[in-house]
Amino acid sequence: MSLNLDDVLFVATLVQKKAAIQIDASKQYLVESRLHALALELGLKSEAELVLKLRRNGDATLKERVVDAMTTNETLFFRDVHPYETLRTTIVPELVKARASAPINIWSAACSTGQEPYSLALLLSEHFPALGRGGVRITATDISNRVLDQARAGRYTQAEVNRGLPAPLLVKHFKQDKGHWQLGEHVRQLVDFRNVNLVEAWPFATQFDLVLVRYVMVYFDHATRVALLERIRRSMRPGAYLLLGGAELLDPDVQGFERLTLGRSVVFRRT
Ligand SMILES: C[S@@+](CC[C@H](N)C(=O)[O-])C[C@H]1O[C@@H](n2cnc3c(N)ncnc32)[C@H](O)[C@@H]1O
Repeated sequence: MSLNLDDVLFVATLVQKKAAIQIDASKQYLVESRLHALALELGLKSEAELVLKLRRNGDATLKERVVDAMTTNETLFFRDVHPYETLRTTIVPELVKARASAPINIWSAACSTGQEPYSLALLLSEHFPALGRGGVRITATDISNRVLDQARAGRYTQAEVNRGLPAPLLVKHFKQDKGHWQLGEHVRQLVDFRNVNLVEAWPFATQFDLVLVRYVMVYFDHATRVALLERIRRSMRPGAYLLLGGAELLDPDVQGFERLTLGRSVVFRRT
């Protein structure tokens, strides 16, 4: 059974309040299809019944499941290729030099099912193997427990590994297991996955050397983006790098970063 406009607005308001994700009324189909799948999973007859339950008891776990269902988790290995080239040729060598014996701290914020932090971990394992012995910490976070469960498991379908993962890396670091590809522990142990809502308090006080916040701010409004980038800036060491998604730029209101073109990538450095 489809939702009425009031139901759609109720869900949109909840998702905006909890995760800052903007859903306008024209996305009725998206809300219906995502909540339909969740309703069936929860043993309910329809998305309308799910919204009714949500309105009636406002249970925190149910709200979390609804917000989770409304996140868009599109991702792939080595997304856009060029940023990873720039990391390999320029940024990581510079960080290795600058950090001397201190570990390099990396944050993959909004990591979805793990392809982004694991691409980093694979790149480091391949090209900077000495960092594997305590020289790097990758913190990977997302608001969705559903995607974090898959990320922690490091288990991918054939279709997922076909997207962006070079065959030699697949053969070297993954094992086939019951129709899936299982990433080896030697790579998985470089990444620490945690549930973090970017618009709430963060449970870490780390000063990062590199932050990737890619393809998530498109879901937020201008004020949220500016406030988030200011908090991210404060979580970075002076000279640390920030990587955004392909077409994403810093709003002119965001201060404290210089824009650099390194090879074929545009990156931002905390001043
Ligand atoms: C499109 S994916 C991007 C994944 C990856 N960064 C990439 O570029 O391939 C966006 C992710 O942002 C997460 N997300 C959305 N709102 C969030 C919030 N308020 N806090 C943390 N993560 C959020 C979603 O759960 C989703 O997994």
